[in-house]
Amino acid sequence: MPFSIQMVALRSSLSFRMQNTVRGPLFGISRQSHNIPFTKGLGETKPFSLICPELTTKSVCERTASKLPTYNILGSGMILIKNYISLKDQVDIVNVCQKWGMGPGGFYQPSFQNGAKLQFQMMCFGRNWDPVTKYNKSYRSDGSEPPPLPKELTSLTKTIVQDAQAHLVELPSMHPDICIVNFYQLSGRLGLHQDRDESYDSLRRGLPVVSISIGDSAVFLYGHSRDKTKCEKVVLDSGDVFIFGGKSRLVYHGVKQIIPNSCPLPLLQETALIPGRLNLTLRQF
Ligand code: SIN
Ligand code: MN
Repeated sequence: MPFSIQMVALRSSLSFRMQNTVRGPLFGISRQSHNIPFTKGLGETKPFSLICPELTTKSVCERTASKLPTYNILGSGMILIKNYISLKDQVDIVNVCQKWGMGPGGFYQPSFQNGAKLQFQMMCFGRNWDPVTKYNKSYRSDGSEPPPLPKELTSLTKTIVQDAQAHLVELPSMHPDICIVNFYQLSGRLGLHQDRDESYDSLRRGLPVVSISIGDSAVFLYGHSRDKTKCEKVVLDSGDVFIFGGKSRLVYHGVKQIIPNSCPLPLLQETALIPGRLNLTLRQF
């Protein structure tokens, strides 16, 4: 596979500057009030926790020393940055997803139009997206609205794109206003698809999708068609960032498999994350 490993780059020093303890209120944002009462309209909403209070840390992946990020250009507008997100930022992201993910507008298992369920839990920040109504409804069918996009995720995304642009000049800048969060348990997966529900202008300009992986690793496929035998395969580990924009904005991609026991031990120790993988995709609608 043509996989040119670019030079190791300086990572912008990013800190979420959290004053809170692990389980305290996160990111200092206040919940928007809901003017539509919360109902169990989705039929599948029961609180989903990323955190296991009794989890014993059994990870075989005892990564301790933090590695430097490496920038791997995969195509025009497409780059994989290994080891980008610091342990502290990974912990903060798990905690903010846990906090908002447990409330109204939090994690649920969405369905396709035909009723089949997606093989993961999902929630959105900033804007509602779901496989049936796409971006057309600002409220979910249970009446809940998505929590606001934490400003720390906005600034992290902008820093990521700036750092990536140092290696990939054609990558457009963007201002994220939506984050889709998926949590895949070990049996979770996602078939090959294109992300093409964002606005005509966003797609036309090739504004990038910035995908952050946390927790257990995933076997990730990408390619120019829906034929998985013609796809390239990469492993996305905790802390990796995959970006597709510019000419690669409509690349087919999917999650083939979650690799058990691959979550870095320090992350498990800091978060008690249940087995599985958290993925955040930040976009500009
Ligand atoms: C997505 O395509 O929306 C998510 C991809 C991933 O989980 O890596
Ligand atoms: Mn996608």
